[in-house]
Amino acid sequence: MRLLQNLFGREPSSLAVYKKLGYRNDQEGILRRFLREEEGWRAHLEHSKQSIREFYAGKNYKSIAILGSGWLLDVPIDDLLRDFEHIYLVDISHPRQITHKYRHAHNLHFVECDLTGGWARHIYRCVYEKKFYTSADVFDCTPQKLSLPQFDCVVSLNLLNQLDGLLLDAMEDCMVLTDSEIERFKTLVQTQHIQFLSNYKYCLISDCEQISISKIDNSREEKSLVFTPATLPPLRHEWLWNFDSQGHYQSDTIVQFRVKAFF
Ligand SMILES: C[S@@+](CC[C@H](N)C(=O)[O-])C[C@H]1O[C@@H](n2cnc3c(N)ncnc32)[C@H](O)[C@@H]1O
Repeated sequence: MRLLQNLFGREPSSLAVYKKLGYRNDQEGILRRFLREEEGWRAHLEHSKQSIREFYAGKNYKSIAILGSGWLLDVPIDDLLRDFEHIYLVDISHPRQITHKYRHAHNLHFVECDLTGGWARHIYRCVYEKKFYTSADVFDCTPQKLSLPQFDCVVSLNLLNQLDGLLLDAMEDCMVLTDSEIERFKTLVQTQHIQFLSNYKYCLISDCEQISISKIDNSREEKSLVFTPATLPPLRHEWLWNFDSQGHYQSDTIVQFRVKAFF
């Protein structure tokens, strides 16, 4: 059926687009890395959960959206189920195990959407459907307004630099982008996300710097992961996430992230 649709020139389904761009693999990779690195991840996940609890404590919000909910590793889900009338979990694709586990939770709603407002499909078209394209095509996108349910407050959860990162990975497999084009793309996508959040009471939790420590000579490199001039709410907490101790992410390298919570 899908093949026939493509023969007649119909758009591929969102599922097919997101799968081809690697979102499903990336999500499965997160779970695999968590299982390998559970010890190092524990403090990060607890800091994230605690920041969310503090963000909404005493505010009397009735509904909350969690953007980038994924496997709920960093979500204090039992507290949210107790404290909110409606919880919206938003992700480009929800793991089936999670939708199944919570299928009877009457106040939990799963929303699937591309939180970049359409950059994913646009990049898919550039990379996989156009025979000849230039880097100018990449920037020729007017993101759509996100149509999400009404909610009182929102948490952007370890998502910000994923929004540009996976799309850049797909692009860089097929084309050469200059450093300034890469920076322009990151800035565009991240700024748009902060502008979207600014319509709400929000909490932003994001890895802001990557720290790479060589296992060979102990040399250390730090790079920023946040590329937006947008004003953020006050910085409330900051911690180190021991992301990869075994060199799977970068060979012979220990990778940590400096994570910050703003609300
Ligand atoms: C690093 S994970 C955050 C951890 C996650 N809360 C968990 O426990 O698995 C980022 C999440 O953002 C989602 N994501 C990435 N890009 C997205 C996009 N454009 N729109 C919506 N969700 C996206 C991924 O599918 C993933 O579940």
